[in-house]
Amino acid sequence: MEDTIKITVIDREDQEHILEAPTDMNMNLMEVCKSYDLPVKGTCGGMALCSTCHCYVESDHELAEMSEDEEDMLDQAFFVDDEKSRLGCQIHISEGLDGLVVKLAPEAE
Ligand code: FES
Repeated sequence: MEDTIKITVIDREDQEHILEAPTDMNMNLMEVCKSYDLPVKGTCGGMALCSTCHCYVESDHELAEMSEDEEDMLDQAFFVDDEKSRLGCQIHISEGLDGLVVKLAPEAE
């Protein structure tokens, strides 16, 4: 399909899931994971307020810089990896992310 990219998500059991994500629906990675029923809670609805969408970026894609809200939330999250941790809800699906690989962070609650 046009206007979709492929993203690999590695779940907490080390299973790989290849997701097709639309680039024209203003979605973020947390929403895409939820639409595939992956165990991503997204409790705050994508407001960078809960960190249940915490993931590690495993591929070397250049992502948009973190907002202050995202940095603040990751400061309070568990299992943070300074190099790889991002909030899935703050990763907006765009063409440049085709082939992105992320791993879900362990659940903190
Ligand atoms: S969904 Fe709450 S921080 Fe991403």
